[in-house]
Order: sequence, then C-alpha cells, then structure tokens
Amino acid sequence: MCGIVGYIGDRDISSVLIVGLERLSYRGYDSAGIATLSESELSCWKKTGKIHELSRFIDKLSIKGQLGIGHTRWATHGPTTEINAHPHVCGNGKKIAIVHNGIIENYASIKSDLQKKGYIFRSQTDSEVIGHLIAYYYKTEDSLLSAIKQCISKLQGTYSVAVISELDPNKIICFRKGSPLIIGLGSNENFVSSDINSIINHTKDVVYLEDSQIAIIEKSTVDILNESGKSVDFKVNHVEWDPNTSEKSGYDHFMLKEIYEQPHVIRKILSKYVSNNTIQFNHIDNSKIGLDSVRRFIIQACGTSWHSGLIGKYYIEKYARILTEVDISSEFRYRQMISHGNDLVLAISQSGETADTLACLREAKSKFFKVLSFVNVKNSSIDRESDGVIYSYSGQEIGVASTKNYLSQLLCMFLFSIYLGQTRGILSDKEYSDMITSVNRLPEYLEKILQNADKIKTISDKYYLSREFLFIGRGYNYPSALEGALKLKEISYIHATGYAAGELKHGPIALIDSKLPVVCVCPQTETYDKMISNIHEVISRKGKTIIIATEGDTRVKEFSDDIIYVPKAPDYLTPMLVSIPMQLLAYYIAINLDCDVDQPRNLAKSVTVE
Ligand code: AGP
Repeated sequence: MCGIVGYIGDRDISSVLIVGLERLSYRGYDSAGIATLSESELSCWKKTGKIHELSRFIDKLSIKGQLGIGHTRWATHGPTTEINAHPHVCGNGKKIAIVHNGIIENYASIKSDLQKKGYIFRSQTDSEVIGHLIAYYYKTEDSLLSAIKQCISKLQGTYSVAVISELDPNKIICFRKGSPLIIGLGSNENFVSSDINSIINHTKDVVYLEDSQIAIIEKSTVDILNESGKSVDFKVNHVEWDPNTSEKSGYDHFMLKEIYEQPHVIRKILSKYVSNNTIQFNHIDNSKIGLDSVRRFIIQACGTSWHSGLIGKYYIEKYARILTEVDISSEFRYRQMISHGNDLVLAISQSGETADTLACLREAKSKFFKVLSFVNVKNSSIDRESDGVIYSYSGQEIGVASTKNYLSQLLCMFLFSIYLGQTRGILSDKEYSDMITSVNRLPEYLEKILQNADKIKTISDKYYLSREFLFIGRGYNYPSALEGALKLKEISYIHATGYAAGELKHGPIALIDSKLPVVCVCPQTETYDKMISNIHEVISRKGKTIIIATEGDTRVKEFSDDIIYVPKAPDYLTPMLVSIPMQLLAYYIAINLDCDVDQPRNLAKSVTVE
C-alpha cells in the first residue's frame, strides 16, 4: 500500500526522506519519489522500481532543502510509470507538490472540469487532480491553506495528503479522510508519515491526525485545524516501539524471523491476559459494549484475519454457546446489516487500517452496533474507533504474509471464547482450568514444531515445482486449510486452494491426479476419522499427500507421501499448531522459487484502499 513521509528541519533532507521510504517499503510498492523545497525552489525526483533506484539517482545530486515529502506508490489508478509515481507537481507558475494515499472516487469529473479550464494532466492517476485543484483555487483564494480547504470540499473518497509549495515555502500542509496520517514532533524539526515505522527512529512523540483535520507543519510549530478551520488542541502520544522489530536480527527474511518469534509472542499474550489461572480483559468496559448480554457476534475481517475469525466462530459457539456469524469485510459492508439487539460486531485486523474492515466498523456503528476489535497496531484507526479492543501484542509484523499475528489472533479468540464460557457458566471450573493449563503449554509445543523446520524444508524441496496445491481440513482445521493455501499463494505465486475436506466429492476431487500435492490437515481431533476417509479419496486418485498429523499417529504413515508431525494436544489447540508447518512449507517453497517473501508482488501489508 502507498506510503507517505515528510520532513521539515535541518537534517539532510534527501536522506531523511529516502530512509523514511525504505522503512515503509515493507508495505508493498512499485515506484517512489521525493520533492524538496530549497530556498523557495521546488524540485522533484521519481523512479519506478525499488527505492534504491531512486536513491542511487539522488545520491549523485547534492540536494539541499529545508523541507520535503516522499511517497511509495502501490498502483490503483494507472500503470507503474515514472509519470504516475508521486509526488505530483502542479501549479500555475509557482509549483505545488502533493503525495496521496487512498482513492479519489470523483477524480474523473474533477479532471474533466479542470481540463476544460485548460489544466494539463500528465499522469493517469486519480491523485493528480488534488494538485491541480489546489492550483485552481489558489487563483481566487488568498492563501495556499484556503486553496487547500476549497480543494478538500470537492474531494470524495479516501485520502491522506501532504502538500508543499513555492506558494508557501516554509510549511508542509497535510489533511486526511479515511487513510492514516501521523505527525512526528521533534526539537526544531517535525515529521509526517502514513506509518509510524518510518519516523519512529527520529521521534516517539506523535500526533494522530483525525479525519477532516488539516495540519500546518512548520519547523518549530504544528497547528491543527478542525473541519470548520478552527485551531484545536491535540494529544501528543508517546509511542513505546522497539525499532529492533524492524531488523532481521540474523534471519534471512522478516517472515522467517516472525515465524520463529511465535513462541515468544504466545508467552507475551498469555502474560497479558492470563494470571493465576484466570483470563482477564481488564481494559474492556463490558457494560459499554454489552458483553454480558450479547446473543450474537458478527465477526468481520479480511484475508488471514478472516480465517482467524472463522476459527473464532468455532471457539465461541462451542465454548460460549453464542451464535456467531463471520463475514468478509468487503461483503459485510454491502449486505443488509440486521440488528436483533444484543449484537456485537467483532472487527479483526492486524494493521487496524484495512479499509474494508474500517468501513464496516463505521457502518456498523452508524447502525448503533457496538464494535469490539482484535487489533495488533495500537492507535491505528480501528483501535481508536472501536468501543473496545483486545490487542494481539504480536509486535510489529513486517512480512506482508501474516504469520505471528495470525497465531496471536487465534490465541486471543480462544481466550476470549473461554473467558465468555466461564463467565456465562457454560464451562465448569475444571474445564476452564484444564483449558488454561493446556494453552499454557502452547509455546513449548510450537518450539518443538520449529525444531522440525529442516524436515519441512526437505518436503518443500520435493514439491516446489508443482504448479498447484490443494489444502484440505475439517472443523477448526478447515479454516486452517484456507490459511495454508493463502500463505503459499501469496508468497510463491503458486495457485493453491483451501477446501473443507468433506467438500471434495462436490467438485474439487476432479482436480486430483498424480501431479497434485494435497496438504491434508489431519491432527487427531473429533473429525479425524472423517479426514482419513477424505485422504483415501485423494490417494485412490493417485494424489500426492502431505499430511500434517499428531505425533505418534502411525496409521496415517501408510498412506502419506510425506508427513509432518505436531505434538499431541486438545482439538482447540490444533489450528495454532498446524499453522507453523504450513507457514514454513510456504516460506521454503517461495525461497526455492526466488520469490520476494517479505514483499510479494502486488501485495501490501496494510490494504488501506477498498
Ligand atoms: C495475510 O497474509 C495477508 N497479508 C492479508 O490477507 C491480510 O491478512 C489482510 O489484508 C487483512 O489485514 P489486517 O489483518 O491488517 O486487516
């Protein structure tokens, strides 16, 4: 997803901007650019490809400047070209440079109006209209700020924008609606970013710009205006963030590092929510969200978070006996939300910025639903707009493919479901206590699985040239199969499909032949025998079986081409156990194919556009 950086101060402008863009690169992009103002002269440089292309080009120039903005572009409108890269430079004489995250939904009508007025558009992007619209209004307004206010009144869609201009050369002016923008406060210098990661190495004091606010940022002052143009007070947040999380610490890739961090992350979550064999979500105001009287949960999420929501449904309905629906956010948003009363929407989002999930949250709240969210990034939009939040404490996840945070979400959903089961008297004290004892053993189970990584690599070496995979599972592990398929496809670009094993006969079985590897998620759970029957359906059609099984299960050996064992554990822990073998299988296959596992093509870490 696109990234924005900005800086005003005395440091070397190009290095602050380029390093800031590098720290945004994990979000996914296809081109990058910066614009600077030096002695009231605006300059701009843009390149397609990786940021080091831009950096190599800029290094040859001796760029001076007191302020500047930069952008990594993840194409939404218009192909990846230098012209379409940001910043876009416009203006009637004195230049204006803008960078934009989001989508201007009414850009076509604005563009055609301005073209009729003689404005020349060079790019095929929606974003370019912002710069020309500001230039247009500046002709009749008495300042850059009032021209920007006029421009904002015409924009529809989502945006976070930073503007610099020769018209007012000592300011960065920013504004946002529906797309995050952060201001970093320094001593006689200030920063702007769409993602804390790009400025955290300079300052931990940040301001989260709210929707419809405008920030006027100078070297030693920051002024924030509300929708009616009045200066407002703003809260300065001191962020606790370990920049080391954005280092690989000896691993070849962030994804591998984050896979190996999982036992530590699980221990951290357990320490946050479990003490004296009791689960506590102390920071949630149960009465505010009506948790004690909820009769229906509606989970809404995207991608991997949707998969953890599907597993969450099994947990909540089984252990808390509460009706639970699960929706993909982009679908939930457009279906008729019907409130029965005593409903609670659960939004699950690692980044807390996913546009569809955020939009659903807002839609739900507009219909008087309360929203409890499962979020990893504190102070993200979903965090700040929810009525309650359960944090997944998995630390910054740099790899675009979610690994440690998926596991964190599963654990948080599990703890949440047995917390409800216990408070509602569904679980006996013994059941509750036994489940907590079991889940406390999860880190050691995960460590044991990670010791098997070499075996999983060997299996990956055997199958990495396969051009398609099928993943099958039942019960809790049907969503596990979906997640395993997503992990593989998103980092190796191999077509992989996840299916409920019981569905094979209804179509997918036609795919099976001697060339098709089928990953069978088959730990010893209550659906084990049914899974064995499904595996027989696969092998009787010569499918290749990679079986994920429970340690000591010798029965599956006779019909597996390859087998990966996970420790024996209660059913409810199996989705958390089987996730690591599939993460590693995907990782090693992608490495064998020389794929960019941390920044897979076309993907972004946080999908902040619809
Ligand atoms: C996960 O591997 C993917 N990168 C993607 O599906 C992700 O889970 C999805 O975009 C939702 O992101 P969120 O959890 O930040 O909302």
